[in-house]
Amino acid sequence: MKHSVKSLKNMRVSGQQISWLTCYEYSFASSLNRTDLDMILVGDSGGMVSLGYSDTVPVSMDEMILLASAVRRGAPDKFIVGDMPKGSYEASDYDAVTNAMRFVKEAGCDAIKLEGGSNMSHRAKAIVESGISVVGHIGLTPQTSASFGGYRVVGRDVDEIEGLQTSIRDLEEAGVFAILLEAIPPLASKRLAEKANSIILGIGAGKFVHGQLLILHDLLGLYPSFRPKFAKCYVPDSIPVFTALLNSQPDLVAFGRTTRQDGIYEITRIAVSNYVNDVRNGDFPDETYSYKD
Ligand code: KIV
Repeated sequence: MKHSVKSLKNMRVSGQQISWLTCYEYSFASSLNRTDLDMILVGDSGGMVSLGYSDTVPVSMDEMILLASAVRRGAPDKFIVGDMPKGSYEASDYDAVTNAMRFVKEAGCDAIKLEGGSNMSHRAKAIVESGISVVGHIGLTPQTSASFGGYRVVGRDVDEIEGLQTSIRDLEEAGVFAILLEAIPPLASKRLAEKANSIILGIGAGKFVHGQLLILHDLLGLYPSFRPKFAKCYVPDSIPVFTALLNSQPDLVAFGRTTRQDGIYEITRIAVSNYVNDVRNGDFPDETYSYKD
């Protein structure tokens, strides 16, 4: 079943954890489409892990549309969020609405995400008023992290927590249906999620929120550079299941030709299914994959 904003809100109300993963291209999206994953983010992190930029700043709107369109073709049954790249929404409401609309019209996205709290709530409001569903993103915001001391955990002191609370209030008043918290200690995230009216999702924000996001390339151990503390690679636990599947086949060549289950496509499906189960059962993230309070 493809989710809607309404069904995602129902998940929050009924206490079901939401599973969310990034994706940037067709074949991986097709593998994700065969799992129970709730949402996909075509993140500007694709600028790094798929296009090879050293950070998320250079990726363009045209590049994001190319990636998002491919993901939509691969995952017709998933709720897809397009990530507004740096420079596509900050200057004016006109830019913000025009570029958000491109994600919907050209790439078939169901919603967009933009970075920023109170300072970007007017842009979020303009996009919501144009009829597009919006996810906010606060805490560590990679597009502007250079101005705030680099990639670091946010929300360890009272001032920062108050700032996050104000941002949540302003984004909710602007009409966002969900807010992503990035790199915030678990107990601070818990307090923020308890007070919020929207769906609070986390990446590196501990387990006491309404759902989890991971970067697909971290989950698959596919990105050769940096891997953050909160990123769990699900491949080692998936290999025994994959190997058992192969061992149960009398003819591996015929099996691969008919099912495509003899390689990365199937390993991805197994690893993602394990992640979805862990999120649903509250087993991810445990302390190993959370920042210290
Ligand atoms: O682009 C992305 O994948 C993101 C996450 C890092 C939160 O925005």
